[in-house]
Amino acid sequence: MHYLPESEALRLYEEARAAAEHTYSPYSEFPVGAVVLTNDGHLFRGTNIENASYSLTICAERIALGYAAATGNTDIKAIAVYCKTDAAPCGACRQFIIEFGNDIVIIFTHGGQLVQKTIQELLPFAFTKESM
Ligand code: THU
Repeated sequence: MHYLPESEALRLYEEARAAAEHTYSPYSEFPVGAVVLTNDGHLFRGTNIENASYSLTICAERIALGYAAATGNTDIKAIAVYCKTDAAPCGACRQFIIEFGNDIVIIFTHGGQLVQKTIQELLPFAFTKESM
């Protein structure tokens, strides 16, 4: 496993918390923040962005990953996710994340504790480009 040192995981989680300050979530009032760490050390923040046409809402993880990928940064090491409850990335975001690598480390809280899991652990038997 390629988990991050505890202090680095905590630093990323704090970045995700800061990202959540820019949430646009007037409908759910459930701010989520995410931060992507690339293997060359760059950070890309994202937050959930909602829409009056509810189903167009985009999760924080996909905004952060889209921001990274759209600026040429697809060599992803880790993603931290912050919200006010315990919540790992949703199913759709797990699929979006695994596109960029099975070993990406996801940092989130569970039972109030900071947890690290690889995306493969969160989405076993995934459909990926290797499946085609
Ligand atoms: N949300 C995320 O940003 N990431 C997730 O992994 C789950 C849900 C957002 C979408 C919506 O704006 C709000 O949380 C409530 O579902």
